[in-house]
Amino acid sequence: MSIKLVTVPEALPEKVYTTDRVGISKATHDAHLGLWKGYANKTNEIRNLLSEADTDPSKANQVYSQMRALKVNYAFAYGGYINHKVYFETIGGKGGSATGDVANLINEAYGNFDHWLADFKATGMAGRGWVFLGYDHDEQRVHTYIGDSQDTFPTWNHTLLLAMDVYEHAYYLDFQTARMKYIEAYVECIDWDAVNAKLPK
Ligand SMILES: [Fe+2]
Repeated sequence: MSIKLVTVPEALPEKVYTTDRVGISKATHDAHLGLWKGYANKTNEIRNLLSEADTDPSKANQVYSQMRALKVNYAFAYGGYINHKVYFETIGGKGGSATGDVANLINEAYGNFDHWLADFKATGMAGRGWVFLGYDHDEQRVHTYIGDSQDTFPTWNHTLLLAMDVYEHAYYLDFQTARMKYIEAYVECIDWDAVNAKLPK
Protein backbone atom coordinates (compact mmCIF):
# COMPACT_ATOMS: atom_id res chain seq x y z
CA MET A 1 0.00 0.00 0.00
CA SER A 2 1.51 3.30 -1.03
CA ILE A 3 0.78 6.34 1.10
CA LYS A 4 0.43 9.70 -0.60
CA LEU A 5 1.68 12.57 1.55
CA VAL A 6 0.73 16.25 1.38
CA THR A 7 3.22 19.10 1.46
CA VAL A 8 3.21 22.77 2.38
CA PRO A 9 5.66 25.25 0.83
CA GLU A 10 8.54 26.37 3.04
CA ALA A 11 7.54 29.98 2.41
CA LEU A 12 4.39 31.68 1.19
CA PRO A 13 4.33 33.33 -2.26
CA GLU A 14 5.35 36.99 -2.17
CA LYS A 15 1.89 38.04 -3.38
CA VAL A 16 0.37 36.87 -0.08
CA TYR A 17 2.37 39.49 1.79
CA THR A 18 0.87 42.30 -0.31
CA THR A 19 -2.16 42.04 2.00
CA ASP A 20 -0.14 44.26 4.31
CA ARG A 21 -1.61 47.18 2.34
CA VAL A 22 -5.06 46.39 3.80
CA GLY A 23 -3.78 45.57 7.27
CA ILE A 24 -3.34 41.78 7.18
CA SER A 25 0.26 41.58 8.28
CA LYS A 26 3.29 39.45 7.48
CA ALA A 27 3.44 38.40 11.13
CA THR A 28 -0.08 37.00 10.88
CA HIS A 29 0.73 35.09 7.68
CA ASP A 30 3.99 33.69 9.04
CA ALA A 31 2.31 32.38 12.18
CA HIS A 32 -0.57 31.09 10.07
CA LEU A 33 1.81 29.20 7.78
CA GLY A 34 2.95 27.29 10.86
CA LEU A 35 -0.64 26.25 11.55
CA TRP A 36 -1.06 25.09 7.94
CA LYS A 37 2.10 22.98 8.26
CA GLY A 38 0.61 21.49 11.42
CA TYR A 39 -2.47 20.33 9.51
CA ALA A 40 -0.27 18.83 6.78
CA ASN A 41 1.85 16.98 9.33
CA LYS A 42 -1.20 15.54 11.07
CA THR A 43 -2.74 14.58 7.71
CA ASN A 44 0.39 12.62 6.87
CA GLU A 45 0.63 11.11 10.35
CA ILE A 46 -2.97 9.87 10.20
CA ARG A 47 -2.54 8.54 6.65
CA ASN A 48 0.38 6.49 7.91
CA LEU A 49 -1.58 5.25 10.92
CA LEU A 50 -4.59 4.35 8.77
CA SER A 51 -2.37 2.24 6.52
CA GLU A 52 -1.56 -0.01 9.46
CA ALA A 53 -4.78 0.35 11.48
CA ASP A 54 -6.62 -2.67 12.82
CA THR A 55 -9.55 -3.11 10.40
CA ASP A 56 -11.27 -5.86 12.40
CA PRO A 57 -14.91 -4.57 12.45
CA SER A 58 -15.48 -6.13 15.87
CA LYS A 59 -12.95 -3.68 17.32
CA ALA A 60 -14.46 -0.59 15.68
CA ASN A 61 -16.88 1.33 17.88
CA GLN A 62 -18.88 4.56 17.50
CA VAL A 63 -18.24 5.68 21.12
CA TYR A 64 -14.49 5.23 21.00
CA SER A 65 -12.21 3.09 18.90
CA GLN A 66 -8.96 3.53 17.04
CA MET A 67 -10.86 3.53 13.74
CA ARG A 68 -13.25 6.26 14.91
CA ALA A 69 -10.43 8.43 16.26
CA LEU A 70 -8.43 8.14 13.06
CA LYS A 71 -11.33 8.72 10.67
CA VAL A 72 -12.86 11.66 12.56
CA ASN A 73 -9.56 13.42 13.07
CA TYR A 74 -8.43 12.68 9.52
CA ALA A 75 -11.30 14.78 8.15
CA PHE A 76 -10.32 17.62 10.50
CA ALA A 77 -6.63 17.43 9.60
CA TYR A 78 -7.04 17.10 5.83
CA GLY A 79 -9.87 19.65 5.85
CA GLY A 80 -7.53 22.06 7.60
CA TYR A 81 -4.83 21.36 5.04
CA ILE A 82 -7.15 21.98 2.07
CA ASN A 83 -8.88 25.04 3.54
CA HIS A 84 -5.57 26.77 4.23
CA LYS A 85 -4.19 25.81 0.83
CA VAL A 86 -7.12 27.55 -0.87
CA TYR A 87 -6.91 30.47 1.59
CA PHE A 88 -3.29 31.22 0.75
CA GLU A 89 -3.72 30.56 -2.98
CA THR A 90 -6.55 33.06 -3.35
CA ILE A 91 -5.36 36.09 -1.38
CA GLY A 92 -2.82 38.70 -2.33
CA GLY A 93 -4.82 39.98 -5.29
CA LYS A 94 -6.41 43.29 -6.12
CA GLY A 95 -9.81 42.57 -4.56
CA GLY A 96 -12.72 44.52 -5.97
CA SER A 97 -15.47 42.89 -7.99
CA ALA A 98 -15.16 39.34 -9.22
CA THR A 99 -13.88 38.81 -12.73
CA GLY A 100 -14.16 36.22 -15.48
CA ASP A 101 -16.37 33.16 -15.30
CA VAL A 102 -16.63 33.41 -11.50
CA ALA A 103 -18.24 36.83 -11.93
CA ASN A 104 -20.82 35.31 -14.27
CA LEU A 105 -21.54 32.47 -11.85
CA ILE A 106 -21.92 34.89 -8.94
CA ASN A 107 -24.31 37.06 -10.96
CA GLU A 108 -26.34 34.01 -11.97
CA ALA A 109 -26.67 32.73 -8.41
CA TYR A 110 -26.86 36.01 -6.46
CA GLY A 111 -28.20 38.57 -8.95
CA ASN A 112 -25.18 40.85 -8.77
CA PHE A 113 -21.77 41.09 -7.10
CA ASP A 114 -22.90 43.43 -4.31
CA HIS A 115 -25.63 41.01 -3.27
CA TRP A 116 -23.10 38.16 -3.20
CA LEU A 117 -20.65 40.31 -1.25
CA ALA A 118 -23.27 41.12 1.38
CA ASP A 119 -24.07 37.41 1.66
CA PHE A 120 -20.37 36.54 1.90
CA LYS A 121 -19.72 39.10 4.65
CA ALA A 122 -22.81 38.05 6.61
CA THR A 123 -21.77 34.41 6.26
CA GLY A 124 -18.38 35.47 7.61
CA MET A 125 -20.01 36.90 10.71
CA ALA A 126 -22.29 33.88 11.09
CA GLY A 127 -19.58 31.22 10.77
CA ARG A 128 -17.25 30.11 13.53
CA GLY A 129 -14.23 29.20 11.46
CA TRP A 130 -14.61 29.50 7.72
CA VAL A 131 -16.62 30.88 4.83
CA PHE A 132 -16.48 28.91 1.62
CA LEU A 133 -17.43 29.71 -1.96
CA GLY A 134 -18.01 26.40 -3.68
CA TYR A 135 -18.79 25.40 -7.24
CA ASP A 136 -21.55 22.79 -7.34
CA HIS A 137 -20.85 20.43 -10.24
CA ASP A 138 -24.39 19.03 -10.18
CA GLU A 139 -26.16 22.38 -10.45
CA GLN A 140 -23.23 24.16 -12.14
CA ARG A 141 -23.73 27.06 -9.75
CA VAL A 142 -21.79 28.67 -6.93
CA HIS A 143 -22.90 28.77 -3.29
CA THR A 144 -21.44 30.22 -0.11
CA TYR A 145 -21.19 27.99 2.95
CA ILE A 146 -20.38 28.30 6.61
CA GLY A 147 -17.53 26.14 7.77
CA ASP A 148 -17.75 26.12 11.56
CA SER A 149 -14.74 23.89 11.63
CA GLN A 150 -12.17 22.39 9.27
CA ASP A 151 -14.51 19.54 8.34
CA THR A 152 -17.96 21.20 8.14
CA PHE A 153 -20.42 21.87 6.32
CA PRO A 154 -20.03 21.87 2.52
CA THR A 155 -21.94 19.28 0.54
CA TRP A 156 -20.75 16.72 -1.98
CA ASN A 157 -19.49 17.25 -5.50
CA HIS A 158 -18.22 20.77 -5.03
CA THR A 159 -14.95 22.41 -5.90
CA LEU A 160 -13.71 24.84 -3.28
CA LEU A 161 -13.06 28.18 -5.03
CA LEU A 162 -12.54 30.57 -2.14
CA ALA A 163 -11.97 29.99 1.58
CA MET A 164 -11.99 32.89 4.04
CA ASP A 165 -10.51 31.93 7.39
CA VAL A 166 -12.47 33.61 10.19
CA TYR A 167 -10.83 31.78 13.06
CA GLU A 168 -9.37 34.44 15.35
CA HIS A 169 -5.81 33.37 14.56
CA ALA A 170 -6.38 34.80 11.06
CA TYR A 171 -6.98 38.33 12.34
CA TYR A 172 -6.55 38.85 16.09
CA LEU A 173 -2.98 40.12 15.77
CA ASP A 174 -4.06 42.81 13.30
CA PHE A 175 -7.67 43.58 14.22
CA GLN A 176 -8.11 42.14 17.73
CA THR A 177 -11.73 41.01 17.96
CA ALA A 178 -12.99 43.28 15.14
CA ARG A 179 -13.84 40.49 12.73
CA MET A 180 -15.82 42.73 10.40
CA LYS A 181 -12.76 44.94 9.85
CA TYR A 182 -10.79 41.83 8.90
CA ILE A 183 -13.52 40.70 6.50
CA GLU A 184 -13.56 44.14 4.87
CA ALA A 185 -9.79 43.93 4.45
CA TYR A 186 -9.90 40.33 3.19
CA VAL A 187 -12.35 41.05 0.38
CA GLU A 188 -10.05 43.86 -0.78
CA CYS A 189 -7.25 41.39 -1.44
CA ILE A 190 -9.04 38.43 -3.06
CA ASP A 191 -7.10 37.21 -6.09
CA TRP A 192 -9.96 36.68 -8.53
CA ASP A 193 -7.61 35.29 -11.21
CA ALA A 194 -6.63 32.53 -8.77
CA VAL A 195 -10.29 31.90 -7.95
CA ASN A 196 -11.13 31.59 -11.66
CA ALA A 197 -8.26 29.16 -12.12
CA LYS A 198 -10.01 26.73 -9.77
CA LEU A 199 -13.11 26.43 -11.94
CA PRO A 200 -13.43 23.25 -13.99
CA LYS A 201 -12.18 23.76 -17.54
FE1 LIG B 1 -6.35 29.27 9.83
